[in-house]
Amino acid sequence: MPILEARGLVKRFGRIVAVNNLSITVSEGDIVGLIGPNGAGKTTTIRLCLGILRRDRGEVRLFGYDPFYEPKSREKVGVVFENPRFPEALTVEKMLSYTARIYGVEADRVREVLKIVGLYEKRNALIKTLSAGQKQRLALAHALIHEPLLLIADEPTSNLDPIGRSEILDLLSTLNKDYGITIFVSSHVLPELARIVNRVALISRGQIVFQGTPSEVEEALKEKIVRIRAKDVEDLAKMLSEYFDRVEVRGASILVYTDNPGEVYRIVGELMVKRNVVVYGVESLEVQLEELLRKYR
Ligand SMILES: Nc1ncnc2c1ncn2[C@@H]1O[C@H](COP(=O)(O)OP(=O)(O)OP(=O)(O)O)[C@@H](O)[C@H]1O
Ligand SMILES: [Mg+2]
Repeated sequence: MPILEARGLVKRFGRIVAVNNLSITVSEGDIVGLIGPNGAGKTTTIRLCLGILRRDRGEVRLFGYDPFYEPKSREKVGVVFENPRFPEALTVEKMLSYTARIYGVEADRVREVLKIVGLYEKRNALIKTLSAGQKQRLALAHALIHEPLLLIADEPTSNLDPIGRSEILDLLSTLNKDYGITIFVSSHVLPELARIVNRVALISRGQIVFQGTPSEVEEALKEKIVRIRAKDVEDLAKMLSEYFDRVEVRGASILVYTDNPGEVYRIVGELMVKRNVVVYGVESLEVQLEELLRKYR
């Protein structure tokens, strides 16, 4: 059953189209990763899905309601906003007890969530003394206090070191697997998120350019760049573009984008023999997320 469903979302800020005809579905039990570079529209998408920003076009259903007009749709949603800030001079437990009171939740729930997020030992620490990773755990505790069925987290791993990132992602995975919480999480780092999500949506310039399972993304990422250094790059590039869709000259190199690098090696070899092309070197490069996204522009 879809918990969150967005269809044809459009959001403009003046002349900027931040979200452009975007559709996404998060079903019960899913962990969906929304992945894209800075400025791609992740935060805007999340705010539209939460109904805290008015969409210009499109439809959103959150637990079956329109979140912009029906705030009760958010009752079972926990949110970790981008760059969360909390009152620095409060202790962890005090801050969460205020959160509990706002939600009308039993005070016992505070210690329960602290244990879930691994912050129980820090319950008496002042928020200003927490590390970045601990603050992120606090943000999660804050989001979980009212036992949401859906957790939306906007880049919960930004500003963390690799170990901290990995720990937060493990925690999200635990929340999904052991506590049955459906999760919608954004990030600009694909490989680390691919480890825990069951669906991935790649966003670029406000549009979803790829959706699928992590293994389908991996398949798409298989596309390689073959870099060729040659004496006359312009000539060789022209010849190669008869065989490959995307051939670019970059300085003294040619970049060929292909999911079959072996074929590039073969054809370059053939051209060396048949057309006397002088080649200094051929090598395969891994495609980075940015490159993959360019493919869809
Ligand atoms: N309130 C706003 N007013 C004007 N432009 C905005 C506003 N919010 C977002 N934008 C623009 O919309 C586009 C998408 O921004 P958004 O914050 O959604 O991207 P993002 O994917 O979350 O980026 P980041 O990874 O940096 O957080 C950007 O071009 C941004 O400058
Ligand atoms: Mg953002």
